[in-house]
Amino acid sequence: MTRFKALRVFQEASGRFARLESLTLDDLTPGDVLVRVAYSGLNYKDALAVTGKGAIARGYPRTAGIDLSGVVEASSDPAYRPGDRVLATGASLGESLDGGLCELARLPAAALVPLPAGLSLREAMALGTAGFTAALALRRLLENHQVPQLGPVAVTGATGGVGGIALGLLKRAGFTTAAITGKPDSASYLRELGADEVVPRASLATAGKPLETAVWGGAIDNLGGETLAYLTRTVKPWGNIACIGLAQSPVLHITVMPLILRGVSLLGIHSVDVPRAWRLAVWEKLAGEWKPPGIERLIVRAVIGLEEVPKACEELIAGGARGRYVVRLAGDL
Ligand SMILES: NC(=O)c1ccc[n+]([C@@H]2O[C@H](COP(=O)([O-])OP(=O)(O)OC[C@H]3O[C@@H](n4cnc5c(N)ncnc54)[C@H](OP(=O)(O)O)[C@@H]3O)[C@@H](O)[C@H]2O)c1
Repeated sequence: MTRFKALRVFQEASGRFARLESLTLDDLTPGDVLVRVAYSGLNYKDALAVTGKGAIARGYPRTAGIDLSGVVEASSDPAYRPGDRVLATGASLGESLDGGLCELARLPAAALVPLPAGLSLREAMALGTAGFTAALALRRLLENHQVPQLGPVAVTGATGGVGGIALGLLKRAGFTTAAITGKPDSASYLRELGADEVVPRASLATAGKPLETAVWGGAIDNLGGETLAYLTRTVKPWGNIACIGLAQSPVLHITVMPLILRGVSLLGIHSVDVPRAWRLAVWEKLAGEWKPPGIERLIVRAVIGLEEVPKACEELIAGGARGRYVVRLAGDL
């Protein structure tokens, strides 16, 4: 019987933890398509799962990893044939389905996306959920009439995966950008990614009047908490804030004033359960018109092996990482 390696998350009386295991197909959640995993990647959510700091899995033990790219080995669904190149991001991987930090994955066909022309298996994972979510945020901003003439779009958590990719996407879409960061010493890196301006997070007003001088045309926020509250107070009339993350805090203390006196919109961004047509359209954009420049050079922090994942996840939780970790399973297939 084929055996393969996987990073599994367990929940026991002592708490949640992850360890490498040797599995057989019988250990995996059911699915129509068997995929030889080429690459996975690490997102903040993976870090929460692997360090045990967040209850990400819906059932234990669960193979971690919300993203994967790879090649189909077998399929009982006519949509896929052996040899097809595919990717999956979100779509309940690592939650109710066994995920991508594994040499073999078995998934429902609906969780998979054919790898779009224009992206390699490795580039797809350099982008991963981070890239998909940043692009979904841009799509929602544009749908809600965000235009470059409104002014610079602020991006928070800018040295992170979502933030860094968002800078490049916004730039390609014609916006000026401001990177708000806790690592102002990364200014030259952020400018290379697409920031026109770099603002230290420590310089932001943490409490203030319900409305302050409006300086941002819009925002893509990865932090929540005080930083998101600040953005609501400082975005210009009819600007949009795409609300993605909670790296600072899930708590949000704001007033309705920016919404009712400036027409500011708070747009929710959710990357797991996304209408399929949107998902396919976003990946087409990421592979073509919006493909961020310098994916390998700027976005990929390092390509690591499965055994190096727990340490990298600790670093992500501490907020110390810059760019994205790509995890090599089979590598280029
Ligand atoms: N809604 C969705 O579907 C969705 C999808 C993907 C990600 N997310 C969320 O979006 C956020 C970013 O994800 P990611 O994958 O880009 O994470 P990441 O690569 O770990 O980056 C997060 C960035 O946020 C900043 N940061 C980290 N810890 C912080 C803290 N305690 N206080 C303030 N800033 C902190 C750091 O940037 P600076 O040092 O530059 O400030 C860090 O690089 C996470 O909260 C994640 O859960 C949500």
